[in-house]
Amino acid sequence: MPKALSVRFQPLIALSLLLLLVPAAAVLCDGAAIRTDSNPTRWTLSTAHSSYQVILGADSVLAAGWFGPVSGARLFQTPEGIRPEEGGTTVREVPCRGGYQALTPALEVVFEDNVRELELVYSGSASGELEGCPFIRFDLRDTYYPLQVSEYIRVLPKLDMYEKWLVLENTGKKNILVENAQSGSLILPPGQYELTQLSGEWGREFYPRTSLLTAGVKSISINALKSQPHAPFFLLRPAGERDEFNGDTWFGELAWTGNWRIDCAVNPNERTQVTGGINWWNSHWNLAPGAKFETPKLIFGFNPEGPAGASRSLHRYLVDHVLPGNAAREPAKVLYNSWYATEFRVNSAQQIALAKTAAELGVELFVMDDGWFRGRKDDKAGLGDWNVDPDKFPQGLGPLIQAVNGLGMDFGLWVEPEMVNPNSDLYRAHPDWALHTPHRKAHTGRSQLVLNLAREDVKKFTLEWLDKLLSENNIKFIKWDMNRYVSEAGWPEAPTAEQRELFIRYARNMLEIWSSLRARHPQVVFESCCSGGGRVNPQILSVAEQVWTSDNTDPGDRLHIQYGFSYAFPARSMVNWVTDEEWHRKATPLEFRFHCAMAGNLGLGSDLSRWGEAEKALAKKMVARYKQVRRTIQLGDQYRLRNPFEADRMAVEFVSRDSSEAVVFAFQTLETTKMAGASSRGSTRLTLHGLDPQATYRVDYGEHSEEISGEILMAAGIEPELDGNYSSCMIVLRRLD
Ligand code: DGJ
Repeated sequence: MPKALSVRFQPLIALSLLLLLVPAAAVLCDGAAIRTDSNPTRWTLSTAHSSYQVILGADSVLAAGWFGPVSGARLFQTPEGIRPEEGGTTVREVPCRGGYQALTPALEVVFEDNVRELELVYSGSASGELEGCPFIRFDLRDTYYPLQVSEYIRVLPKLDMYEKWLVLENTGKKNILVENAQSGSLILPPGQYELTQLSGEWGREFYPRTSLLTAGVKSISINALKSQPHAPFFLLRPAGERDEFNGDTWFGELAWTGNWRIDCAVNPNERTQVTGGINWWNSHWNLAPGAKFETPKLIFGFNPEGPAGASRSLHRYLVDHVLPGNAAREPAKVLYNSWYATEFRVNSAQQIALAKTAAELGVELFVMDDGWFRGRKDDKAGLGDWNVDPDKFPQGLGPLIQAVNGLGMDFGLWVEPEMVNPNSDLYRAHPDWALHTPHRKAHTGRSQLVLNLAREDVKKFTLEWLDKLLSENNIKFIKWDMNRYVSEAGWPEAPTAEQRELFIRYARNMLEIWSSLRARHPQVVFESCCSGGGRVNPQILSVAEQVWTSDNTDPGDRLHIQYGFSYAFPARSMVNWVTDEEWHRKATPLEFRFHCAMAGNLGLGSDLSRWGEAEKALAKKMVARYKQVRRTIQLGDQYRLRNPFEADRMAVEFVSRDSSEAVVFAFQTLETTKMAGASSRGSTRLTLHGLDPQATYRVDYGEHSEEISGEILMAAGIEPELDGNYSSCMIVLRRLD
């Protein structure tokens, strides 16, 4: 999502300010074009390797054309090529409920006279530029009812990517009920496809799972506001394609922090269709006369270089176009988080002691986690009463923050603003502020209820206490947690129409709070935690520089989670802590734990008071080494060299965008941790990617180094020095001038 839109969170206003609309014509940007042809009227949106076509079909119906490699676009120019009409129906660009057609509808509304069918015809188009990239707008109108539907498509030519979204407008005098408005529909070229999704559960987030799409609809969705079971991501390849670095790949993700849905349908004519957007389960929207409704953005692309190419496009998109603040220019600071060391039992003296050790190790940001506010002795009380606990911090947070700052570090704090414990003054004063349904038990999760952020008073309260906290304290980092799924999502006090708008209003208000805080406190960096990996998407990444990847910090497991995460999201946003391993493995070498955490945004989460001199010395060395190469890791391109789901090895390479530096991490795990069915260790040699073939690189293995040409490194590769179970290494390559 473009930064300007997301940060101001006034999409429609921002659009009208930012867009200079001109009649449809050729608009050039970075070598890309939006070209309009006549006879038939056809628009071709081009990126370096792909074309996206839209065609004006019979009866003014807007039809989906070719989406895929540039070469395929010419099919539409031949009489025997793919046509927008199939089996007597038009393959619509914006499929809706109504008419004679077989696609999954992206739009379903009900008019006041209970007519549920739409008949949309093309009424015009306009194009322009938005933040340096071309976009086109297609206007559709209903043939009878006063509904205007505009589809926007923005082209990111260098990234081979596009963004799509709809704006609905009620131009009449009666309400229109929106039952479903997806962000977009994509029609893939004929063929059979496999879907790779990122799914799992708490502690096993982002596991890539690939399955063949067969007749019918494969739906990935969430309906309780937490994306832990699935990330809002899809990747499609022709069936049977397995090459990580080559092959046609269609991919995308959704920029929405509420309930979402991605459907991959194989329709009766064997055309594969992807739709994505808000999950309208248990929701609708009342479009009042004169009102507009804008959907979130569906971000998608085509890349001929397999999943590797798709991920590189997504990473660059998120880093360059989405992440807020300075994130695209500056790598993240090395942080320490106190959670595993002290849990809820925090106090000033003990945190300062941890901070002193952290500073000695090279940590730049000290974060105090849960437990600092009134009544918070365990997870059974306190959420909602966001005042500093006077027993734990008699003089407030001031002395601790000053001590941390005095040690040369920034100070950060944990919050969980969307939650309330029944055992809190807030809940006792405002029981109706929590989501609830009459005559139904309100289930607690982790002893807490969910505040109804759709309510304007709850939104105001939340924004005010967070604003006050950040105004009164020198806090440079907020870890925003969210530790339960939503249930009994009722709002009986609201007018009937608004009750079923709850999920959408909640998601919008949450983003609005977050955006307002960023605008008022631009010096603060945010992390979206959500019990680890529970809320990661391009929209949250427009307000939070980074995310807590998983609560599972066991490095053997973590290599799998990090591998999957990298399909959709960049290393810049992936926070990893070195911990004392509280899951199911002990005694993994500290160096292995460091290497695992260094393959992203490094943090420390161990109980440093238990570390001896040897651990501290190693940690200091590793943090210093990390700082030398973190720019390449966090802001460079990432290549997955070994898949831990296939063998007991994992390897990943990061290359700076100018190819002058590369960092390779290689790991050997334990044979018993392999997925069932995997039998091979895989070759130990690692063929590298993204280097300058003409240049010579110094390859630094730590203990020794050698000079090798980029060409050989990419053809014959390097041999990482791994020595038995849980061994690892980091190899740094620098181009010699
Ligand atoms: C869940 C998070 O994932 C942990 O890191 C920690 O912040 C706890 N919540 C605190 O309650």
